[in-house]
Amino acid sequence: MEVKVQLLGFGNVGRAVARVLIEKKAFFKRRYGLTFRVVSISDRSGTVWLPEGIDLREALLIKENFGKLSAWTNDYEVYNFSPREAVREMDADLVVDVTNDKNAWEWHLEALREGKGIITSNKPPLAFHYGELIGEAEHSDLPYLFEATVMAGTPVIGILRENLLGDTVKRIRAVLNATTTFILSRMEQGVDFERALRQAQELGIAERDPSGDILGIDAGYKATILHCVAFGPITYDEIVVRGITEVTAGEVERALVRGKRIRLVATVEEGNVRVSPEEVSGPLAVSSNENVAVIETDLLGELVIKGAGAGLKETASGVVSDMVKAALGLTGA
Ligand code: HSE
Repeated sequence: MEVKVQLLGFGNVGRAVARVLIEKKAFFKRRYGLTFRVVSISDRSGTVWLPEGIDLREALLIKENFGKLSAWTNDYEVYNFSPREAVREMDADLVVDVTNDKNAWEWHLEALREGKGIITSNKPPLAFHYGELIGEAEHSDLPYLFEATVMAGTPVIGILRENLLGDTVKRIRAVLNATTTFILSRMEQGVDFERALRQAQELGIAERDPSGDILGIDAGYKATILHCVAFGPITYDEIVVRGITEVTAGEVERALVRGKRIRLVATVEEGNVRVSPEEVSGPLAVSSNENVAVIETDLLGELVIKGAGAGLKETASGVVSDMVKAALGLTGA
């Protein structure tokens, strides 16, 4: 079975996805009988479109050497499509959105109406338009998968969406932003805030504009998405968010003396989501780029899921897993 894919976004995550598709091509074929044919790739400079399938190695070379896909002039046509036009004009089975486009929900809806499933790592569409997007996907009977939006490839969305189906979730307590965990862990070792933030940026954990991380917006988006999946739609505008900008070195140190850690904690209950720095111990006291979610349910009790919450191949893990899942669904497997 061959699945035609449109890749929107060719930044760090998009390229990490392309690398996995190259390196694990034989594995997908052997294990699932699947071949992914990437028919278009879009970045800010343009869209490369080749219905027979784009050579991903060449795409990576162009992007890495010239910084933009529009530099690709031999053999390939570069089109000046908006994402909306790209999803409307081209024949494909799946649209993979690894952009940061806040307005992407509009072209997600368009893609679903065009009969294309969606895989996304882009958080704002879900944090603001979950109900509409899932409603349209259900109406169109198409996959709309977003594992990589929360905790990278660590499958917390899968657990809530596809397992625990007889459980009622009572509460989720979670650490969902790797940058703030990284900064707070480094502060525990005596590194100052600014230097720790720079290190997080160098490691590719922080967003390009890290203010969303340290102000708690990124964790807020993720907590909103967890609420949507566990309890039903809510939007980011309805939740309470406080970031880590006011956490001082003294507070970090005093917590340590008491055997505790300060972490940016999300508490998700039905109709109520808040994100703020808290003193924690036990499973919430993660370090480095780890994320954790403690899910409390009526039947199972307490479930802890912990793993990488950021990173390029770690995020690609979630995106590619969803691509396989969607493809197998499309094939009826
Ligand atoms: N900047 C994000 C974080 C990346 O620090 O968790 C993953 O969404």
